[in-house]
Amino acid sequence: MIATSFTRLLGLRAPIQLASMPGISTPALVAAVADAGGLGMLGAPLMSAPVLEAALEELSDRTKGVFGVNFLIPFLDPPCVPVAARRARVVEFFYGEPDAELVERGHAFGALVSWQVGSAAEALAAERAGCDFVVAQGTEAGGHVRGGTSLLPLLSSVLEVVRLPVVAAGGIATARSLAAVLACGCGGARIGTRFLAAAESGAHPSYVKAILEASSADTCLTEAFSVMWPDAPHRVLRSAIERAEALSEEIIGEVRYAGETLPVPRLSVMAPTSETTGHVDAMALYAGESAGNVTSVQPAGALVSELVAGAARLLREAAG
Ligand SMILES: Cc1cc2nc3c(=O)[nH]c(=O)nc-3n(C[C@H](O)[C@H](O)[C@H](O)COP(=O)(O)O)c2cc1C
Repeated sequence: MIATSFTRLLGLRAPIQLASMPGISTPALVAAVADAGGLGMLGAPLMSAPVLEAALEELSDRTKGVFGVNFLIPFLDPPCVPVAARRARVVEFFYGEPDAELVERGHAFGALVSWQVGSAAEALAAERAGCDFVVAQGTEAGGHVRGGTSLLPLLSSVLEVVRLPVVAAGGIATARSLAAVLACGCGGARIGTRFLAAAESGAHPSYVKAILEASSADTCLTEAFSVMWPDAPHRVLRSAIERAEALSEEIIGEVRYAGETLPVPRLSVMAPTSETTGHVDAMALYAGESAGNVTSVQPAGALVSELVAGAARLLREAAG
């Protein structure tokens, strides 16, 4: 067990936050990470308040561990915030200026509030807006990327300016990288790509296979998948861009999400889940540079234990 400012704040046994990955961080995956002592995160974009309520009820039945809900500011449906804050320990926001009113709304309904940021200025703004912790995301990260700085220089400046617990995100998939961010003063690590290949992940099997086969150099930061969400850089597998550009049809498949069947437009933001059909390999295959460190499918609980035990050993060795 590794105790940090982040684990103490939330009552966790592991300094690990599951990255919210809509459709991929399924209730089963969120619950598995929470059961293992980490912070499970449910992604909620495009969920109506009643659908979110039902998902959170299911999660409460599945786990006694700690979980939160992540909202993307460009898709925020304000009535969902109190629904999340009443039932989840953490309400979290990403991809918008930190907003004191939203933070206050989360607190008013009983949750802790966090903000994923891409710069020291944004981290400071999150602290001033009243957040309880911040997630500092480097450009190594899979999915949408907020800032323009890679993780170590970002952490060096964020950890200098904020007093809140800081969770590091981007490129962390091994015990060594977890130990590195803990050693430099972070309270924990937020991990996405590695959990994409967890046994409980909702990612489409072809997507998981592509991650297992990819090296870090096979990912790139792009704005290619911008239908539904323009002007928002994201890191994906380069092969997905090449395949999408080779297709000519406008709709390249269908996905079941939040109780509905939705068409998947070519070059749209939707990542393929196990309930997606069509040209899966040409969809947004979000992946961090950490993809090169993901080589096997493992149950999420075993993954959390392995990362924490390995990081604890490395930190002990480093201390001499
Ligand atoms: C498939 C996928 C979907 C993501 N969706 C979201 C999201 O909805 N909200 C969010 O805050 N971050 C999202 N992210 C970014 C993560 O929060 C996190 O910054 C990233 O996964 C960390 O880098 P890593 O993938 O190398 O672990 C997503 C990442 C991936 C891989």
